[in-house]
Amino acid sequence: MRTNQPQTIHLSEYKVPTYLVDTVDLCFQLYDDGARVHSTLSVRQNPESKDVSAPFTLDGDSLNLERVTLDGKALVAGDDYEETGEHLVITEVPSQFELTVVTWIEPQNNTRLEGLYKSSGMFCTQCEAEGFRCITYFPDRPDVMARYRTRIEADKATCPVLLSNGNDIDRGDLGSGRHFVTWEDPFPKPSYLFALVAGDLVEKQDTFTTCSGRDIDLRIYVETRNAAKCEHAMDSLKRSMRWDEEVYGREYDLDIFMIVAVDDFNMGAMENKGLNIFNSSCVLASQETATDLAFQRIEAIVAHEYFHNWSGNRVTCRDWFQLSLKEGFTVFRDSTFSADMGSPTVKRIEDATLLRTAQFAEDAGPMAHPVRPASYMEISNFYTLTIYEKGAEVVRMIHTLLGPELFRKGSDLYFERHDGQAVTTDDFVKAMEDASGRDLTQFRLWYDQAGTPLLTVSDNYDSEQGVYRLTIQQTIPDTPEQTNKQSQHIPFALGLLGIEGEALPLRLESTGDAANAPTERVLELTEASQTFEFYGLAQKPVPSLLRHFSAPVRVVYPWSREQLVFLMSHDPDGFNRWDAGQRLAVDVIQSLISSPETAEIEPRLVEAYRALLADLSLDQALVAKMLQLPSEAYLIELADSPDVAAIHRARERVLSHLATSLRDELVACYHANTGGGAYEVTPESIARRSLRNTALSWLLLINDDAGRDLAVKQYSDADNMTDRMGALRALVNSDYAAERSQALADFYERFQDDPQVVEQWFAVQASSDRAGQLPQVQTLLKHAAFDWKNPNKIRSVIGVFAGQNLAAFHNPDGSGYGFLADQVCRLDDSNPQIAARLVAPLTRWKKFAPTYSALMHKALGKIRDKPELSADLYEVVHKSLE
Ligand code: ARG
Ligand code: ZN
Repeated sequence: MRTNQPQTIHLSEYKVPTYLVDTVDLCFQLYDDGARVHSTLSVRQNPESKDVSAPFTLDGDSLNLERVTLDGKALVAGDDYEETGEHLVITEVPSQFELTVVTWIEPQNNTRLEGLYKSSGMFCTQCEAEGFRCITYFPDRPDVMARYRTRIEADKATCPVLLSNGNDIDRGDLGSGRHFVTWEDPFPKPSYLFALVAGDLVEKQDTFTTCSGRDIDLRIYVETRNAAKCEHAMDSLKRSMRWDEEVYGREYDLDIFMIVAVDDFNMGAMENKGLNIFNSSCVLASQETATDLAFQRIEAIVAHEYFHNWSGNRVTCRDWFQLSLKEGFTVFRDSTFSADMGSPTVKRIEDATLLRTAQFAEDAGPMAHPVRPASYMEISNFYTLTIYEKGAEVVRMIHTLLGPELFRKGSDLYFERHDGQAVTTDDFVKAMEDASGRDLTQFRLWYDQAGTPLLTVSDNYDSEQGVYRLTIQQTIPDTPEQTNKQSQHIPFALGLLGIEGEALPLRLESTGDAANAPTERVLELTEASQTFEFYGLAQKPVPSLLRHFSAPVRVVYPWSREQLVFLMSHDPDGFNRWDAGQRLAVDVIQSLISSPETAEIEPRLVEAYRALLADLSLDQALVAKMLQLPSEAYLIELADSPDVAAIHRARERVLSHLATSLRDELVACYHANTGGGAYEVTPESIARRSLRNTALSWLLLINDDAGRDLAVKQYSDADNMTDRMGALRALVNSDYAAERSQALADFYERFQDDPQVVEQWFAVQASSDRAGQLPQVQTLLKHAAFDWKNPNKIRSVIGVFAGQNLAAFHNPDGSGYGFLADQVCRLDDSNPQIAARLVAPLTRWKKFAPTYSALMHKALGKIRDKPELSADLYEVVHKSLE
């Protein structure tokens, strides 16, 4: 906690570490009232550092230092070392030495959930990015890589299970009810990958045989009550291990791989070497308690953390500016994995939706930063959609430009060349260049320029010559500290459709024959404006632009509604079919916003949806996605000075118009997709559940009594959480007040002992414009199950209200903003990381219509004036007020 301004750290000031640490010997003595940590480091001067005879500086945060010895000799405070609050400075050291530091910490009072803390009686750690310094003094930066040996001593009854990284090499009894286990990790690693767990846990065990025939011991550790909820994570883990061997040639390297579930966790999960620690909500699942979305999320996160073993652990980041080196690449890997496990088109739609809705907004806001930022105050604020999701898109574009074979050659070279090193995004691109022979100089701008490129596309058709010309202009908007940007290298996939919907050959030369021309091409944009000519076309085609969302950019083209309807049913690219539907719906909603008196809602939209509901030959997973109207958040993102209430009204009007016009089709769709076998998590059955739950929610929106009866029955008969939650959500968002409260009460009664389900119960209310107005949300904060120390509970009420219940949050009286400001200030004292994340919706104040933005600005000012602002919150609030 601080009141003065935190320092800005610049990439340009990077210096190699002055001292290197070869080994770390740790001993943790864990007690109810605290923990003593003995740490012995073998240190030597870094031959690459120019700072000879410099003092040895270690990082520390909230530590009680008990003792320091150098080569066995006790050091004296003031004479031999100094403690400055954030550092321990050893004034004079030889070129090689052994340093022992003993600290006392209080995990039971650690509410920031960084370093060593307690979660439901269990000791656990979170060290990324800078949590290891809350455990002991250490040069806590990722380019200091050491081999760790960790001994844990604790009470046998409360902590029968003692875990750390690597292999378990020794264990024994200590008398007086205590015992110890020693772990040794043979792979050098940065401190952020250190982990420790001690508690009363049960294990679920399995085995995986690697491609070279080694048997790996797989274990998932959970509290006893969760023993039956590990199967899906274990299956996901085995699928991930196999996939990484097949697709990237990466084999697991230790003999044991462990996952631990903890209830109190700031993020989703953490890839600590050999000992991944997960937020319970990202690992535990059963048919009765987890939705399809949760099952898919768990599979993706288990894969993500596992994949980090190579992209992150074996090859790690030189400094935190390189965070996307491991996160962008690993998200790209997990996203390809999920596509391979399910429906690739649906996965692409989900990724593009997240990017276009939330990352584009971030990239246009006050915290916009490049995939490789040039500076930061608090690194925790940079675990962003830009680093993760845009970073993954950047890797995906390299994959598109190189093609799968050369990309694989590049990744092989990268892993081989840099194994055991801490490197930069530039090293990654270099490996791709060296393996492929392609020049990615201009492409590198994707790492350094923030902002979403805007592509403005225009076309004309020359009927005499049979030539179709497409002109694409790119501009990259200004972002904080960056103006006048250079053109980027953008892979732009496209196709052209003829009048019957046929895929036309794309001939870029006037000669050559049509039969050999491809029907899809990836154009490479490199200039501010480029024109492409397509030859041999008998009529003006309909362009299908930026297929598969081949680059994270906005595309503007004057599509007519007729063209969009045509693409919705004819585009061979599933992604662009969906996209055409979204553009049509956006256009219809936007025209209602600008002229709300309009009596008629575009009949072609209704007919397009009718066709979707009727045509059972279509990929039903795609249909399920196409039936989702663009979200309010996306409509806000697209608007220039959004009036949230007007957007909400217009969208609701279109929804109820569709539901009224298609009422009978919806009932038929509901029945066609109900019944039919046991619960499975496959793309087909997920699509069936999604379709019936969408139909249900639309029917309830128009107060259809038959729909209400279906919902009440589905709620009580459901044998899985997707259907139970689907029915509950439909009721909660309806005007059937009696049924809504009855279902909510029953749901809580049924699941009150399951924290992950209670979180869903909070979220379904906090996201509803019916059940989640501010007074009701305030009531949720007083509910017995709400817990100010648990990030999931905080997110499921406050985060969901501000992020998903947009009409209520943006109440024109400003009450939603004031509420969020108060909660953020309160949380800043206990958990600054969470506070700084929750404040995000307010930071976009400049975007909104003046009535909103003035009030948002005022709420931010209130936070700025809070005494003792954390560095986390300071950075976000000050940057957004600038
Ligand atoms: N590396 C983790 C993950 O992707 C994220 C952990 C970040 N934690 C934090 N407190 N900033 O997968
Ligand atoms: Zn990650």
